[in-house]
Amino acid sequence: MLNYIWQVLALTAMAFPSWTAMAEDGQNPHWRTDACDTCHIEKSPTAGNPLLNAAPDDALCLDCHAATSESACRHLSTIPADPDMQRRMPGSFQASLRDDQVVCETCHELPAQCLDERRNERFTNPMFLREGPFHQRSDPCYLCHDKNAYTKLNPHDQFADSGDLREAICLLCHTSVDATGKITGNNLSFSTGDDLSAMCTGCHPVEPHPGATFSFSGTDSSNHLVIPSPEVRRRMDETAASTGIRLPVDPLSGKIFCATCHDPHDDNLPDYPVTPADTRDTNRLRQKNICLACHDK
Ligand code: HEC
Ligand code: HEC
Ligand code: HEC
Ligand code: HEC
Ligand code: HEC
Ligand code: HEC
Ligand code: HEC
Ligand code: HEC
Repeated sequence: MLNYIWQVLALTAMAFPSWTAMAEDGQNPHWRTDACDTCHIEKSPTAGNPLLNAAPDDALCLDCHAATSESACRHLSTIPADPDMQRRMPGSFQASLRDDQVVCETCHELPAQCLDERRNERFTNPMFLREGPFHQRSDPCYLCHDKNAYTKLNPHDQFADSGDLREAICLLCHTSVDATGKITGNNLSFSTGDDLSAMCTGCHPVEPHPGATFSFSGTDSSNHLVIPSPEVRRRMDETAASTGIRLPVDPLSGKIFCATCHDPHDDNLPDYPVTPADTRDTNRLRQKNICLACHDK
């Protein structure tokens, strides 16, 4: 019955030109006082009767936020939450599930950007995250995911048993990815922002670097997370040219970073220039004798 009502409402809404016009010209309707009809059919929505253009699930959002677009969310949506997770999550999250599924509105609390008295939250919680604002980007994650299990999640295991790419895994580090495994959007845009080590150190707290006899970011002369000197650069270019391996540096700062030496990707990733199998070393190192990739003996 409810579903039927939503369908009727959605059909009615198609007759409203403003909604479609908005969606097409790509204007941001959030937090504005003059774009309520982007989502609401009439000007007098209430908590009990929000009068939405579409059911309050992903349909309302995906018209503008296609899963492959640049303004896509990095989290999957319309996904079932198992009973354990449902017990763990705060009540406000539970109340916003649809048929036991997590939808956009479970994590994004729309009324924050609707109501006059809440409009100031724009400055503290611009993405209207439910239960926000949060201090750390990972804080909302643990409202649903078990923290212990989550740090055991293996992000290097990038294919499901079915052989499908696990896109949600890519989105742990990349801001967007399409279904074929191409990194889209800003070409190489990372979910951790400027601090690229943060995408690894959350799960691998390495300081000083484990297993190695030298420091990677200490105060001594062997700090490795730096812009390579011309001499090291020359050696890196020679290595890349002669072996075909990649030694990427932090695209923003030009410094060596975790992924310069370690390849975090699955060996079978399409469109990723993978290190030839006979060159790779354990610990995901891009080559055996990794020191020699950058140092002449
Ligand atoms: C991007 C879509 C979107 C826009 C734009 C939007 N709303 Fe909403 N609004 C929603 C959704 C979704 C809900 C929550 C429906 C639910 O969960 O019951 C909601 C809920 C509400 C409610 C009920 C409040 C409550 O506490 O549940 C009011 C009132 C409201 N909106 C008014 C407005 C007004 C006024 C504007 C313009 C200033 C506006 N909305 C703009 C999507 C939107
Ligand atoms: C009419 C089109 C439209 C609809 C419908 C819409 N959005 Fe948006 N949304 C936008 C645009 C445009 C932006 C700005 C994107 C950008 O700058 O890249 C945006 C930005 C956002 C942001 C980032 C915060 C911000 O203000 O930049 C969030 C979060 C968001 N939308 C969630 C949602 C959710 C959840 C829904 C469904 C309830 C929804 N949107 C419905 C067009 C829309
Ligand atoms: C499980 C929780 C969750 C779900 C479900 C979810 N989001 Fe998000 N979304 C987030 C979080 C957390 C962020 C903020 C990420 C960050 O820190 O940059 C975000 C960010 C966004 C942004 C801003 C992206 C950017 O980088 O500018 C948009 C737009 C957005 N979400 C839209 C949606 C839409 C549309 C849906 C439903 C199809 C959705 N989200 C479902 C948690 C969620
Ligand atoms: C509202 C609850 C909720 C929140 C908040 C949430 N998630 Fe999820 N997440 C889910 C559900 C449900 C699934 C799908 C079922 C599963 O894998 O457990 C999922 C799946 C994932 C997966 C895919 C796991 C796999 O094996 O493919 C990753 C990665 C992930 N979430 C990361 C995050 C991150 C990072 C955050 C914080 C920005 C976050 N989640 C916040 C509910 C949530
Ligand atoms: C643990 C973090 C992490 C995960 C998970 C991850 N990546 Fe990456 N990815 C990186 C880093 C760091 C780089 C930049 C260094 C490099 O090129 O290896 C990168 C680079 C890439 C590039 C190369 C872009 C170019 O420069 O041409 C592709 C393609 C790519 N990733 C695809 C994926 C896909 C597809 C997934 C999911 C199956 C994924 N990545 C998962 C961290 C990650
Ligand atoms: C969500 C947690 C998580 C993140 C983020 C993460 N890793 Fe891992 N990593 C793991 C787990 C779990 C293993 C163990 C996998 C195994 O034993 O097969 C692992 C294994 C490794 C290993 C050891 C090699 C091996 O196969 O045992 C290296 C090196 C490594 N990761 C580097 C990185 C780098 C570099 C990044 C950032 C680009 C990164 N990891 C991001 C969880 C993570
Ligand atoms: C200059 C190259 C280089 C850089 C940069 C680098 N590593 Fe390593 N890493 C190594 C080498 C070499 C080993 C193997 C050490 C050994 O076997 O004694 C290793 C080992 C590891 C291991 C496995 C260690 C163990 O004992 O399980 C992890 C995890 C790891 N590195 C993570 C990281 C992270 C996270 C970063 C970024 C903060 C990073 N590495 C930066 C070269 C590097
Ligand atoms: C990805 C390139 C890279 C790899 C791999 C690498 N280094 Fe370095 N190393 C550097 C850079 C960059 C410096 C900083 C000095 C410079 O730029 O000339 C440095 C500095 C050093 C120094 C300090 C010496 C000096 O001239 O200041 C030592 C010692 C050192 N590395 C040992 C090692 C060892 C041992 C390994 C292998 C476990 C290794 N490095 C792997 C790039 C690398």
